[in-house]
Amino acid sequence: MAKVQIKVNDNGSLRITGEVELLDGEGNVYPAKPAFSLCRCGLSNNKPFCDGSHKGHFESKVRVPKED
Ligand code: FES
Repeated sequence: MAKVQIKVNDNGSLRITGEVELLDGEGNVYPAKPAFSLCRCGLSNNKPFCDGSHKGHFESKVRVPKED
């Protein structure tokens, strides 16, 4: 099975690539897609998916901490 990849996009969504199940709060499964983006800013009108509403309204650039 291929590794699932989650990328924390600068100032935007979480990009999920790979075979993964996405469930709602009741355990219902969203239709499978090979890649999709989850909203990280809270502004999407199509949660849990990103709809682009973050653009110009959300700033967050995270990086893996460097080891000393
Ligand atoms: S991260 Fe894109 S709409 Fe929230």
